[in-house]
Amino acid sequence: MCGIVGAVSAKECTNFLLAGLTTLEYRGYDSAGLAVLNNGLQRARAKGRVAELASKVAKGDIQGQVGIAHTRWATHGVPAERNAHPHISEGLAVVHNGIIENYESLREQLQGLGYVFTSDTDTETIAHLIQACFKGQIGEPAENLFSAVQCAVAHLKGAFALAVISEEEPDCLVVAREGSPLMLGITDEGHYAASDASALVSVTQQMMHLENGDIARLTRDAVMLVDAQGQAVEREVVTSHLSANAVELGEYDHFMQKEIFEQPQALGNTLEMISGAGQLQPGIFGAEAAAIFEQVDSVLILACGTSSYAGLTAKYWIEQVASIPCNVEIASEYRYRQSVANPNQLVVVISQSGETADTLAALHHAKSLGHTHTLAICNVPESTIVRETALRFITRAGPEIGVASTKAFTTQLSALFLLTLLLAKTNQRLSKENEKIYLDELRHLPVAVERVLSLEPDIKAWSLQFANKHHALFLGRGRHFPIASEGALKLKEISYIHAEAYPAGELKHGPLALVDADMPVIVVAPNDELLEKLKANMQEVSARGGQLYVFADGDSAIRSTNGVNVLTMPEHYGLLSPVLHVVALQLLSYHVALVKGTDVDKPRNLAKSVTVE
Ligand code: F6R
Repeated sequence: MCGIVGAVSAKECTNFLLAGLTTLEYRGYDSAGLAVLNNGLQRARAKGRVAELASKVAKGDIQGQVGIAHTRWATHGVPAERNAHPHISEGLAVVHNGIIENYESLREQLQGLGYVFTSDTDTETIAHLIQACFKGQIGEPAENLFSAVQCAVAHLKGAFALAVISEEEPDCLVVAREGSPLMLGITDEGHYAASDASALVSVTQQMMHLENGDIARLTRDAVMLVDAQGQAVEREVVTSHLSANAVELGEYDHFMQKEIFEQPQALGNTLEMISGAGQLQPGIFGAEAAAIFEQVDSVLILACGTSSYAGLTAKYWIEQVASIPCNVEIASEYRYRQSVANPNQLVVVISQSGETADTLAALHHAKSLGHTHTLAICNVPESTIVRETALRFITRAGPEIGVASTKAFTTQLSALFLLTLLLAKTNQRLSKENEKIYLDELRHLPVAVERVLSLEPDIKAWSLQFANKHHALFLGRGRHFPIASEGALKLKEISYIHAEAYPAGELKHGPLALVDADMPVIVVAPNDELLEKLKANMQEVSARGGQLYVFADGDSAIRSTNGVNVLTMPEHYGLLSPVLHVVALQLLSYHVALVKGTDVDKPRNLAKSVTVE
């Protein structure tokens, strides 16, 4: 979703701003812009890619040492240059992430004061509002840009991260955060701001994460910061472990491809804490985990998209292994549903980014209902969700840049399996012998995934047969139904083929009507307790001329015949088999997208981190 970069530096900053925007491209956007101060405000904006903005900047010779930049993912107003940020109000420029909920009433008020709007955005309201505060048209005349921003922020409702520069104070940058992430980069030659650490690592690893309500004034030599109460505060400067090459493509063609192939490493890193362990300790979920797990009588998982499919897979594990009831709810539904809270329930929020607005709001809703046993499973240690839960488990997948989630999903699954084992142990449902077996299986997982990756040439060959397809069905049963759902989501989001997943037994209750020779049916077919039932479901497809693409275990005894294409998975993996099967489905989607010629890493209309409702 939208991205912010800002700088106040001893050096020319335009290249840094453009490089930062390029790094943030993965978040999804449809226009970009920047503004710098250099004897007045200079601005360039472009619909489309950052590369188009860069060529405009080069032509206009825009340069300066203080500047702000933005990638916009349209919410209010179509993708167009006039709606791209920065928005300007008489020598003052603003970039903004998030949504201002009361922008319509503010816009009317500002129009009444004579301000003329040139865009459809909520952001332009902020620019004029700060200007009106500066001039004392709203509130007392502000002493400086910082107090004008303070005054304006007090009138805003919604979630935002802002960066503001003004001709009135050409040596400073003011930033504010309420709900949307924003961090500062600290160096000896200047200060920087960004909505995502990856945009800062080219200049520094030293970062300061702003809290909600913080407003900061950045100059070349100093950071002055106040909290939501207007009190001067200091925030810790932390060393980011993100390396610049972690967000580079290296030998790969796409980030999605890189991230699929990084999964053995990502799983190895995530499971490092159990590498030599004979038994599991609850402390891996936080200091209070042992005490909380003792009280837990059920689990409620809240998440969106791919993360929710990780939760749905875990439901099968938790109920089977730990004998604890587990519900999974789509965060955007749960937050508006009247539910019955149980204080002994463990509320688990799963999120790659830790900033997904719906998941965060669902967590807030759960807390407002009296839930205190909260756990975040998240890939970004500094994220908002992680800071708001009692317990946490950080997956160590490393930065995920491709919009389609891959390594975040498999590492979430590994974390959820650890949770399952710990709940089972607490619930006296896990023998020492089984604990050792499961730990060994987890430790072997990176190798097992590596072997699935070796199927790539065969999967690539299959992908050619999807070149002219417009629809696909995915079938799975039991704990592999969520994996089929994830496979369908991957295929639709990056190849634009309409794909749906069904529990295979449900086929005859409706979707079978869709099956004909043009309908590829992808089947997740491990040799588990439901295999024979699944084979009968596959017969139903074959009998209607459907084309089957089956990912089977070696001992599933399913052979390729006319209309039945079978790929044999390298290992039969019991309860953890979903982790292996999903990797094969990721590869299929990736190669089908290549055949279709879509923008694999930045599929149309989508954003990486969905920070608006
Ligand atoms: C799909 C995908 C999305 C995300 C969803 C939640 O490939 O990536 O469905 O899973 O937007 O995002 P997080 O996990 O960051 O909360």
